[in-house]
Amino acid sequence: MSSIGFSKHGKTSELAKNSVAYPHGFDARNNIVIKVHAAAVNPVDKALLSGDLKMVFPVATFPHVISYDVAGVVEEADLEGKFSVGQPVFARLFGSPKDGKKTPWYRGAMAEYCVADTSNVVLKPENLSFEEAASIPLVGMTALQVLKASGLKEGDSIFISGGAGGVGTMAIQLAKHVFKASRVVTTASKGEKEKLCKSLGADVVVDYKTSNFVEVYGGTNADKFDVCFDTTGESLQMSSIVNDGGRIVTIAGMATLEELRRIGGTAWILKLFVKRKAKRKEHKAAQSVNADWNYLFLSPSHADLSTLASHLKSGAIKPVLDGVWDFHSEDDNDGWKGAFNRSFSGRAMGKCVVKIV
Ligand SMILES: NC(=O)c1ccc[n+]([C@@H]2O[C@H](COP(=O)([O-])OP(=O)(O)OC[C@H]3O[C@@H](n4cnc5c(N)ncnc54)[C@H](OP(=O)(O)O)[C@@H]3O)[C@@H](O)[C@H]2O)c1
Repeated sequence: MSSIGFSKHGKTSELAKNSVAYPHGFDARNNIVIKVHAAAVNPVDKALLSGDLKMVFPVATFPHVISYDVAGVVEEADLEGKFSVGQPVFARLFGSPKDGKKTPWYRGAMAEYCVADTSNVVLKPENLSFEEAASIPLVGMTALQVLKASGLKEGDSIFISGGAGGVGTMAIQLAKHVFKASRVVTTASKGEKEKLCKSLGADVVVDYKTSNFVEVYGGTNADKFDVCFDTTGESLQMSSIVNDGGRIVTIAGMATLEELRRIGGTAWILKLFVKRKAKRKEHKAAQSVNADWNYLFLSPSHADLSTLASHLKSGAIKPVLDGVWDFHSEDDNDGWKGAFNRSFSGRAMGKCVVKIV
């Protein structure tokens, strides 16, 4: 079957269409095979491809099929009978490439078929296309888990950096329409990205190219925020705009050693390069204004993906697609390469999705 992946670490040009074996012999006790209709691209795919994540997620076998986000139809069901053949589903593929030897069918989503752990597969909301559904799992669960970890509650104010990105577009909608934040402020560039953020529920959009959010909200009499959600690596500056007793949560930049350990990073060498939370300047800056700072890694969660499915079904939140590209075309713009070029440029507005069926 056809797949997209890489045979060695490097730039986007290392990505290629490869023929890989159909997953005959997958462990059907707790897995299903999905006939993939659509898969989405995320910044983590770029990091995995480049080798930046080698210490935490070493790739076990090449070519490694890329992408964590999938929507499709159950091709082969699990023995427990949680799913049946023909059901439309979506999932954030579970496991890491280093599990390859233990679970030989762990591979990415960008292929005609993939294997998914049933603990992380949810029925696709009927009102979503497969392309829309594939855009949700990684960014939706990340946004939801950060908002839960931040303790955001009805009536709170929140600052979200990078509102037009995959995570930002989910975070604005969830904060405003699900957590019922009273004030949602975000950063985005002027024009279509600013308009998009407002349409999703942002009360104020700060044009990050012409103004600095610390200058706008950092003064002693400024209206600061109960929660700051950092998707752009600016959590140090957020200690100037967070309320006394507030919380800053970041998903960008360098993780803490504690968080890397929590998600399974065991390499001793991590200790040489990664600081504990207590030693991080972001933590110290937040502490100095009586606020809390944390780094969060997404943890795949059936409960959280189900929650997102119900919010998508009710229309409380909606998918935001930058575009859809064709798996079967090698054209640099319209074909699958276009989705990676656009996502990896860091300029996408919402998600870049590849349509397979
Ligand atoms: N820890 C985790 O588990 C986890 C999970 C998901 C994502 N992440 C990380 O979170 C970050 C965001 O992910 P994403 O999927 O949302 O990325 P993305 O979709 O690629 O974000 C692209 C968007 O960010 C905007 N942007 C870039 N720099 C900005 C800035 N300084 N201020 C405001 N907007 C800015 C861009 O707009 P312009 O074109 O106008 O610049 C573009 O619209 C990435 O670093 C990713 O690796 C971490």
